[in-house]
Amino acid sequence: MAKKLNIGLVGCGFMGRAHSNAYRRVNNFFDLEYAPVLKAACARDEENLKAFADQWGYESIETDWRRLIERDDIDAIDICTPNNLHKEIAIAAAEAGKMILCEKPLSMNAAEGEEMCQAVEKAGVANTVWYNYRRVPAVTLAKQLIDEGRLGRIFHYRAVFLQDWTIADDVPQGGESNWRLDAAAAGSGVTGDLLAHCIDTALWLNGSIKDVTAMTEIFIKERMHALSGKVEPVNIDDACAFLARFDNGSLATFESTRYARGHKALYTFEINGEHASIQWDLHDLHRLNYFDHGDDSIIRGWRSIHVTDSDMPYMDKWWVPGLQIGYEHTFVHHVADFLDNLAKGQSTSPTFRDALETQYVCDAVLKSAETRQWETVPNA
Ligand SMILES: NC(=O)c1ccc[n+]([C@@H]2O[C@H](COP(=O)([O-])OP(=O)(O)OC[C@H]3O[C@@H](n4cnc5c(N)ncnc54)[C@H](O)[C@@H]3O)[C@@H](O)[C@H]2O)c1
Repeated sequence: MAKKLNIGLVGCGFMGRAHSNAYRRVNNFFDLEYAPVLKAACARDEENLKAFADQWGYESIETDWRRLIERDDIDAIDICTPNNLHKEIAIAAAEAGKMILCEKPLSMNAAEGEEMCQAVEKAGVANTVWYNYRRVPAVTLAKQLIDEGRLGRIFHYRAVFLQDWTIADDVPQGGESNWRLDAAAAGSGVTGDLLAHCIDTALWLNGSIKDVTAMTEIFIKERMHALSGKVEPVNIDDACAFLARFDNGSLATFESTRYARGHKALYTFEINGEHASIQWDLHDLHRLNYFDHGDDSIIRGWRSIHVTDSDMPYMDKWWVPGLQIGYEHTFVHHVADFLDNLAKGQSTSPTFRDALETQYVCDAVLKSAETRQWETVPNA
């Protein structure tokens, strides 16, 4: 009989659903000492919350996250709210001795993130940040190939994350639906929302970033604010591109925008090493493209590895070779790793401290866009 881990989920939107799905499925596919229990869901609108709780099988509801944190029957708080609430909820949860699974980005900025790290470290509570792309099997396989030294010295890292959903100037900012366009709720635009994913993956695969130089743009300068009903200045970056140098001497380009007509969530990265190169594309997430210069020249070329065999990361837990898995499984993998590490007394990466490094890079990127200078990334 697995030990129960009572989850208190805050925020019942996109990520609330993705995480609930993961908690429900994880023990069906992974043999674990712990089993999550959907103990309570929390959001402000009681009617929607009740419907959510019924649909996903939560035992109870709370409309105030403070009340949720006070409850003795909650072991772990899962933060799935807009970014401006992460810090307050996380610190309160840590002080109450709860484990914390926090959505990305960790915080609005590195200063907030530092406070959050100190709070979880002082309380000694298990913590992790949901940078879920680390747990796409093809991305985990890329990490394995790099760590095995198959690429040799790394020269280049190239990442993009492209969307097109904010091109119309009548999309409002703020409120329940468009908090991502409101700097007060999101902290930043594509930098914290999309590039944070690219940066987290890059730090994991290729090590720390030393310095950056960036440019950002706000293409639509004013939008109606959903809460005030007034036209207000837009303060988030609609697009951002930056150059970076890694500690290992490799060079990088990162680009993100919500103005790339035709792209909904095109996250790609390519890494070029001395012996081999790797490419990955979220739209084809179960494949890893690999070029090995060591192959005989007459058969040398890019191979498209279908990451479904049982000796590939996580794939022994799912179907039979040849059958792929998708986006939602990355969250199942994250929960599985969290529960497995909990049983072993180990931390689950990225921890708050790991994710803080991404915040420092984001801060340096935004600062560089303002100063138009190269900016050094402080150590997390
Ligand atoms: N890992 C990923 O790939 C990924 C993808 C999307 C979003 N995110 C992150 O997840 C977080 C949530 O994003 P989302 O897309 O799920 O947003 P969403 O707008 O779909 O959901 C946010 C939820 O938070 C609730 N909420 C807002 N204020 C609250 C409060 N005071 N108390 C309780 N609930 C409150 C809202 O009612 C809503 O249910 C953000 O930090 C975002 O950056 C991560």
